[in-house]
Amino acid sequence: MNALFVRSRMPEELGFLLKQHPRDSWRSSPDLTSMGRFWLKRHNMFRELGGALSGSILQLKEDTFNPQTFAQWFAPRLNFLLSELEGHHHIEDAHYFPVFVSAEPRLKRGFEILDRDHHHIHDLLERNANAGWAFAEALAQGGDRMRFAADTYGGEADHLVTGLMRHLEDEEDLIIPLLIDRNESGQSLM
Ligand SMILES: [Fe+2]
Ligand SMILES: [Fe+2]
Repeated sequence: MNALFVRSRMPEELGFLLKQHPRDSWRSSPDLTSMGRFWLKRHNMFRELGGALSGSILQLKEDTFNPQTFAQWFAPRLNFLLSELEGHHHIEDAHYFPVFVSAEPRLKRGFEILDRDHHHIHDLLERNANAGWAFAEALAQGGDRMRFAADTYGGEADHLVTGLMRHLEDEEDLIIPLLIDRNESGQSLM
């Protein structure tokens, strides 16, 4: 199984900055820049949207949604999540991670883990898109075919959301303490 689904957090030795800047200190920290706060908001948007999409499948199965209304709600949101995540990961890999690694080489291994997560999540996004579009098509047909496609898509969406939640939390635990720490000494990284 991929490491993303095995670990429950980042390796202990990468947590030296998180110990100095634990999660409950982030919100009030004057050294968390508006860019850092914006980046956290993006993560929260991914959490909410991912959770809403996988949760909506459950509602569809419980017949609390009309399939046509559901399709109109579901398709643009799925599309939005997939494309925004692709763009987000691309900026992190190409721009931010190299800046962070050169600022703190002791965290290099952590950024390698996050980079591998991105590749794995990319595969999950493709599987999700395929299952999502098959599901959107089956919605028009209704009946057993729709239910079967909903089950398949629901499984894919749950898997993606589970991996994504792990990734977002571990990424924040690595990056936010680094941003705060460097900002304290006048070096703005983001
Ligand atoms: Fe990421
Ligand atoms: Fe991210």
